[in-house]
Amino acid sequence: MTSADHDACVADLKRCIALSDNMAVLDAGSGTGALCLALVRIAGLRITALEPCSAMNALLELRPELRCVTTVQGFCDHADDRQHFDAESFDLIASRQLANCLFDPLAAFRNWYSWLRPGGAVVVMDGLFDRHDWSGTWDGVVDTLPLSACRTTATVPYLLENTGFRIDFVGLMDHTNALPSTRTQRYMVAATKPQG
Ligand SMILES: C[S@@+](CC[C@H](N)C(=O)[O-])C[C@H]1O[C@@H](n2cnc3c(N)ncnc32)[C@H](O)[C@@H]1O
Repeated sequence: MTSADHDACVADLKRCIALSDNMAVLDAGSGTGALCLALVRIAGLRITALEPCSAMNALLELRPELRCVTTVQGFCDHADDRQHFDAESFDLIASRQLANCLFDPLAAFRNWYSWLRPGGAVVVMDGLFDRHDWSGTWDGVVDTLPLSACRTTATVPYLLENTGFRIDFVGLMDHTNALPSTRTQRYMVAATKPQG
C-alpha cells in the first residue's frame, strides 16, 4: 500500500471518530500491519496488533515504522479468545478487512465490547463484497463466513447494536474509495460502548 492509501484511511477515520493522544488502540486482524501503517501516522496512539498468523506478525515486526506496535498472536471470534486482553484495556478497536473473514462476528463483537473501556469506540472497515469476489482459492468459503458477501452497510451496525454498542456512523469511506487502487467499494461503521 502507498502513502496515499494510508493518508486516505486516516482521513476516513477522522471523519467518524475522535483520535487523541495516548489512546490505547487495538488493530484486530492486523495481518502484516497495513492498518497499523495508517494508525502510526496519528501521533501518540499506543497500538496493539492482534493477528492469528505468526508469519504475518513476524513481517509486521520487521517494519521499522511499526517498532512501537505491540503484537499479540490470536483470533478474536470465539469466547475463549476473551483471555487475550483484560476487560476495558482499549479506548479504540479498529479492524479493516477483518469482518468478512470472521466465522463468528457476534462472538468477536462481544469480545471487543469487553476489551473496550466504557465510552470507548469500535471502527469496522470493510468492503461491499459479492459472491463472485470469493472464487479460485476462496471457492466455497463464502458460505462459511456470515459477513463475507453482505453487499449492504446495514448488517455490521445491526450486529454491533445487538451487542450493546451505540452506532455513531455508517457510511462509505469516501477518501479510500476515491483512490484508483480501490477496486471494491469500502464502508465503515463507528460505534461506542455506552458509559455505565
Ligand atoms: C484481509 S487481512 C486484513 C489485514 C489488515 N487489517 C489490512 O487492513 O490489510 C485479514 C487478517 O485477519 C486475520 N484474521 C482472520 N480471522 C481472524 C480472526 N478470527 N481474528 C483475528 N484475526 C483474524 C487474517 O489472518 C488476516 O491477516
